[in-house]
Parts: sequence; structure tokens; C-alpha cells
Amino acid sequence: MYASIFGEKPQAKASAPGRVNLLGEHTDYNQGFVLPAALPYRTTLEAGRHEGIEAYAEAFGELKSRALGPARGDWLDYLAGTLWVLREAGFAVPGARFYVRSDVPIGAGLSSSAALEVAALKALRELYDLPLTDLDLAKLAQRAESEYVGVACGIMDQMAAALGTPGQALFIDTLSLNYAPITLPAGVSVVVVDSGVPRRLAESGYNQRRQECFAAAEMLGVRSLREVRDPQAVEALPEPYRRRARHVVSENARVLEGLRALQSGDLERFGALMVASHRSLKEDFEVSTPELDRLVELALEAGALGARLTGAGFGGAIVALVPENRLETFQKRVAAGYTGARFY
Ligand code: GLA
Repeated sequence: MYASIFGEKPQAKASAPGRVNLLGEHTDYNQGFVLPAALPYRTTLEAGRHEGIEAYAEAFGELKSRALGPARGDWLDYLAGTLWVLREAGFAVPGARFYVRSDVPIGAGLSSSAALEVAALKALRELYDLPLTDLDLAKLAQRAESEYVGVACGIMDQMAAALGTPGQALFIDTLSLNYAPITLPAGVSVVVVDSGVPRRLAESGYNQRRQECFAAAEMLGVRSLREVRDPQAVEALPEPYRRRARHVVSENARVLEGLRALQSGDLERFGALMVASHRSLKEDFEVSTPELDRLVELALEAGALGARLTGAGFGGAIVALVPENRLETFQKRVAAGYTGARFY
């Protein structure tokens, strides 16, 4: 494939998965806890050494190239951003050619951009023999996304793409960046149901929530909402800060409890925490949509142990925890109740 476009053999090959977040939403930029899981969908790159960036993406059927320069608002930015961030970090990397293949759904909140950035950094690490760990790559990818591409984000997606293994969840403390793989109990499936509604106002809504959280932390005199453990502490804040902070504080507690539930095989409890997370995201954090609420309701009626919106919200997908023996009826009933649902 690489050879058919560039007329030479690739010198490196790397890949990274998309992710779904099981619990811990809008907590990463508050230095809190998250529990994403890598998906069995991946972005795979074949690469070769080159000056500047040249790439062919199967999904778009187009070849693009550029010397570095500023971001231009297209898909090549994600690859150019990885070159930019490596140079910022002091590595004299001239560039690369990439052939990009991916089955990570785009625009559904499953982190196709983090998968692309992390796969590109892995390929560049191999091409130029860079002394970087997978955690280093996650940090660099996050910096590329926020400072070069210009999309503010936490570190969850990039860590899940760099360090996650499909079939396992990844518990991350986003303050210390300590992480641990968590094996999911047998007998359940993690099902993603895409509402098919593109994320509306996702970027402006996301940035607004971040600012509200930072302002709430400042009012409480803490460096981040992560430091607030007593739920009562937020009650005196003016609205909307009270509800925003209440979501973050309660969500951090849910992740820690969810972790214990998974470790002891208590899937009913984990499911209940997912449902509580959705309610908090809907009522306190106000990032849900009628479609996501409807899908969560349908998923629970169709036999899921738990369901919630996943990712930033404002559209995109839900994640449901479904006993394997109910999978078929689950899918049938959700599809019958919601036209256009897509299952991953
Ligand atoms: C997006 C961001 C993540 C995280 C989630 C919300 O996916 O990229 O860093 O903040 O939203 O939990």
C-alpha cells in the first residue's frame, strides 16, 4: 500500500487504537481519575524517512504534503503536529511519509485523532530511533493536539491510545500519570452505540466547561477540583460553578468506586455507577443531548447493566455494559427504538 503510493518500501509500521471511556468524564483536565478502554479499532501507519510531511489517507483517498508551517485545519495537521512537537522537544526530526489506514470511526467521540497522533509518534520513534517511552508519546501527542492543532483536551485519549490494550480498561490518575491495566470481568461486553448526531458546539462547549471548572477551583482556593474530596465543599459556590464542580467531585469518587467494583467482579455496581455518571453529566455538567439520553434509556430497557454518554458529550456515542447472553436482543431492541443507531 505504502509502496503503491510512494514507490518505495516503508521503513516502519505502527498502530494505535481508538478508545471508549467507561467512567470518569470531564475529570482529566481537573487532574482527576479516568477509566477508558482501548477499542479493537485501530489506526495503522506505514512510514518512511522524508523531509517535511507527506501522507496518503485511505479514508479520504488523498495525498497531501507540506513543509512544517502552521496548522491549516485539515487532517494533515495531526501528522504535522507530531513532527512539530518532536522538534519543540528538541529532536532534530526532518519528517516522514505516511500511508494511513484506520477503522476507528471518525467524529463519534472515539478518539480517532489521538489514535492517529500516537500511531504517528510511534512510527517516528521507530524511524529515527528516538529514546521515548509510550507515556512520553502520550504527553507529546496531547501537546500536539492542544498547541499545534489547537484543540484543548486532557490526557486521557492519548494515554489510552499509547498504553491501552483492547479487552482491558486502563485506570489513570491524571495528576501523577500513574496507570494500571484492569481486566474486565468475563461475561460482559462493552458496546458503543453511536447516536449518529455529530457533536454540536463540542469545541466551544468543552472549552466553556473547562473554564468553569478552573474558575470553581479558584473560588475554592485549590489548584484543581481533584483536591476536593468533601462533596459538601462545593455547595456554597454560585451557579453554574456549584453543579459543574459537583459533577467532577462525584465523578472522581465514582471512578474509584468503579475500580473496586471491577476488581471484585461486581458488575451490577459498576453499571449503577455508569447510570449515575450519565445523570450527573446531564443534570450537573449539562453536556448530554436528547438523543444520548434516549439511547441510555433504551440501553437500560434492553438489558444493559449500565449505560452513559462517553467522551465529551454534545453528541457522539454512548457506552453500555451488556451481559454477553443478552447481546443479540440488546442490539435488536436498541436498533428498533432508535433509527440510525450504529453499534461498535
Ligand atoms: C475529550 C477530551 C478528553 C476528555 C473528554 C471528556 O475526549 O479529549 O481529554 O476531557 O473529552 O472526559
